Parts: sequence; C-alpha cells; structure tokens
Amino acid sequence: MNPKQNSDIPSVVVSGGVTPQQECKELVPEAGGLVIFGAAGDLTRRKLIPALFHLFQGGLLPDRWYVVGSSRNEMDDGAFRESVNASLDAFSKNDSGDPSLRDRFVNRFHYLPGDFEEAGFYSHLRERLIRLDQEHETGGNRLFYLATPPGLYSGIIGQLGAAGLNRSAGWTRIVIEKPFGKDLASAQALSLEVRSVFKEEQVYRIDHYLGKETVQNTLFFRFANAIFEPIWNRRYIDHVQITAAETLGVERRAGYYEGAGALRDMFQNHLLQLLSLVTMEPPSRFEADLIRDEKVKVLRSVRPILPQEIDRFSARGQYGPGVLEGEPVAGYRSEPGVASDSKTETFAALQLYIDNWRWQGVPFYLRSGKRLAKRMTEIAIEFKQVPHLLFKPLLSDGIQSNTLVLRVQPGEGISLAFQAKHPGPKLCLGCVTMDFNYDGAFQIPSPEAYERLLLDCLAGDPMLFGRGDWVALSWSLLMPILDAWNEKSASTPVPDYPAGSRGPKEADGLMERDGRHWRPL
Ligand code: BG6
Repeated sequence: MNPKQNSDIPSVVVSGGVTPQQECKELVPEAGGLVIFGAAGDLTRRKLIPALFHLFQGGLLPDRWYVVGSSRNEMDDGAFRESVNASLDAFSKNDSGDPSLRDRFVNRFHYLPGDFEEAGFYSHLRERLIRLDQEHETGGNRLFYLATPPGLYSGIIGQLGAAGLNRSAGWTRIVIEKPFGKDLASAQALSLEVRSVFKEEQVYRIDHYLGKETVQNTLFFRFANAIFEPIWNRRYIDHVQITAAETLGVERRAGYYEGAGALRDMFQNHLLQLLSLVTMEPPSRFEADLIRDEKVKVLRSVRPILPQEIDRFSARGQYGPGVLEGEPVAGYRSEPGVASDSKTETFAALQLYIDNWRWQGVPFYLRSGKRLAKRMTEIAIEFKQVPHLLFKPLLSDGIQSNTLVLRVQPGEGISLAFQAKHPGPKLCLGCVTMDFNYDGAFQIPSPEAYERLLLDCLAGDPMLFGRGDWVALSWSLLMPILDAWNEKSASTPVPDYPAGSRGPKEADGLMERDGRHWRPL
C-alpha cells in the first residue's frame, strides 16, 4: 500500500526520442454518403462537422463522399451550408485558411428537413440518397449517424428498416451515440430493435473515449512491450485508480443530465471501457472481435456490488456552489433546467474487484465528477511497495511506491514515477518521473477522437466501438447501484461537494478505509 501521496516530492522530467516510424497499417475509408440525423444539434456543430473538416483538410477522407444533414428545421442546402461554415468558424481548431478548400468541403453538404417519426420522410430520404449516390459515385455505401436525442433512436431505426434503408447496393452502417439505453431493460429493448433491423456488424455504438490516443495506446503499451505484461497483475500491482475529472458543470444539458447522472453518463461507457482495456487478457490477434471478446470476458469477471454493499463500495455527490479557477460558480441545483430539489449525482466513485487469476484482490477505484478542481483523465497503476525496505533508516516518511500513469487528458502521455537518490553527499531519496508526452515525442498534435472514429466507420473497422454484449454487461453491473441510489434518494439527500473541490468526502472514505488516497487533482 502507498503511504500518503505526496505531490510536493520533486520530480524530474526525462524525455526521450522516437525511432523512425515503422511500416504502419493505414485505415482506408471507403467512398460513401453520411446521413446525419440531428444535423442542427450541438454534437453535429461542435464535433462532427469540425472532425470531418479536419479529415478532409488532411486528405484523409475518400475522394467520393457526401453528407445529408437532417432535422426538423426548415432549411435548404444553401442555408445548411452556411450553418456548416458557422460551425467551422466557431469550433474548428486548425483551419488552413484556404477558402477554396472550405468551399469544396461545404459543397458536399446537402439537407433534407423532416419529421423523423413520419414514414414519408424516409421515402424522400431514399430518393435523395439514390440520386446523391449516383452523383457522387459512392456505390451505394451509406452511413447513418444518430446524433438526435436518444428518445428518437428506436423510431428512426424502425423507420429505416421499414423503408428498406437498412441495406443498399453497397454497405450500410449505423452509428449510435451514447447513451445506449438508460438502464439495462431499455438498453436490451433498444438492442433488440437495432438487431431486428441491422446485423451486429452494421452497428457502431460510439464511445468517444475509445477514439482518444492514450486510450488506444493502452493496448499498444501493454501488448507491444515485453516489460510491462509480466508485472501487470496482482503480484505487483497494489491498486488501480481511474479518474475522469471535469471542471465543466452541466452546461446547457440539464434536459439530458437530470435523467442521467454521473454513473450513466460517464461510467456505463467511458470508465468501464478504460477498465476493460487495462485489465483484459491479451487477444491472440489485433482484430476487432478478438479484442472485444476479451473486453467482454473481463467485464464478466467484475464482481457485482451487492445491494447491501452499496455504501461500502460506492459514493456519490452533487456539486454545490463554490469557486473554480478563482471565479464563483453556481451549485448544480441552481443551474438552468435543473430541479431545485434534484437528487441527480454529478460525481460518482466505485471500488470494484475482478474475480480472476490475474486480478484477484486488487481494488480498482474509479471516480468521475463535474465541477472538480481540475480537468484530468488518467489511469494510474500503483505498484506494491518493495518487499524489504533497506533504506528505512534514511527515511522519515516511508517511500512512495512506483506509479505508472496513462494520461488521457490533458497532455496525453505516459509517466512512470520511481525513487532515485538525491545528488550530493547526503543519502536521501526522491521521487522522479520519466515522462513520455505525445505532442513532444511525435511532434504532431493528436487528432480529435471523433476524427478517428468517423474514419473507422467509413473504413468498416468496429474495433473502437462498443459491442452489444459489452453494453448489456456494463449496464447490468451498474443496475444494483443505480437502483439503490434511487431508493435512497427518496429519504436522504445526495451529499454536496463544493464546486472546485476534489469531490465529496464519502469518496475519500472509500480509499481511506483501505489506507489509500486518491491521487491529487
Ligand atoms: C460525454 C459526457 O460523454 O463525455 C459529458 O456526456 C462529458 O457529460 C464528456 O462532459 C467528457 O468528455 P471529454 O472528452 O471532455 O473527457
């Protein structure tokens, strides 16, 4: 176990070089048409359009492609193209400033207004797609992207099936955004609906965390290096901490978040995906289904938290008013659209165990919250102490054990903390870190998660997408906690934590009971 974490220990940054790039496997996106349901929404404006533009700018999109945006708003192609330009002005991070490139990009966008519940809309859509497929010579390849509120998913999927749009002369794929259901029963019902219209290989359940570089690198780090895997187990690892801390509050998403909360919003997908990648067994080949099989297998080994153990192994909280980066910020219950007596948790922490040979007895502490002191997502592997501390007489405070941190954001990279002797005649130890930084090492900025994921959809690679069985398992793990919290909320308030803090003290309790501490934010 670790003595108290000491963030004041001096650390040394060791940087290294990168050997010349080896032969790389390239994703080859195929020609195709992208249909975005919910084209006037936030996700489309903030993420999808800028991601497509960055791909286009980088020459990564196929030569033949088009987009049909769709929503209830009445617009023609021209007005939609103006809104595409406006999204780029507001949200594109690296525009080369070449106006002709912008024009060529924007001219690929078309628009079809309509009511997604009306069968008539889908026959118009079909006719439009047949024309655009011919015009752009996309061979009938189509990607439907559900970027609407989740309540519309099932209707759209049913209508696509009824209109025969689940198949075409080329391939047809469908991207489904999170949340996939709001509990196990609704996720299963949605799965059945999806599978009655599409085959599993046509379905891409998106989790944007899987598109982040460090998250992808977790597998490369573990399975392309010989030195880590032998110590990646209960014999050497004391515990693992997975943190996804945000400084943002609920913003303008109360309509969705009030019915969701931190456990549904961040754990059912992102945090359990990170857990799966860190703990899965090596697959025999680097293939989508073999990797997804291993992720399912390890999730099946996660010990369910029993109803009577909920308080022992979980904690929740809701941000109250506080100060963040020197500015006063409102509490959750005063945010626009949030009920004044809301019991929605904006922070959650879990202590999980994995019942298999590799991980028996190793606790995994997961936490995520909004309006915390710092934005930080990382996976920290805390190793065990040395078996015999021969330096004991030199130390007042014990030594910090080795920690390997996979930093997801900000500053994607990997660091290893270890002990070193201070220079000079005095005999004393200090903790230093060897730090690998993506941007510094490769001298190229990491692409946004959505860029990678859109490319994968067009290339037909489902590796970084959730499979139906994984999604169902993740819900079944969380259901006892969601049910218990729901029941408890009737009689007990959700503990508050001040905005700008590290979360509720109940979360510290999870760790302190075991003599451990959360890593500082
Ligand atoms: C989304 C959640 O999936 O992830 C948001 O719905 C959250 O509530 C976001 O803010 C965090 O993503 P990122 O990439 O900023 O860590």
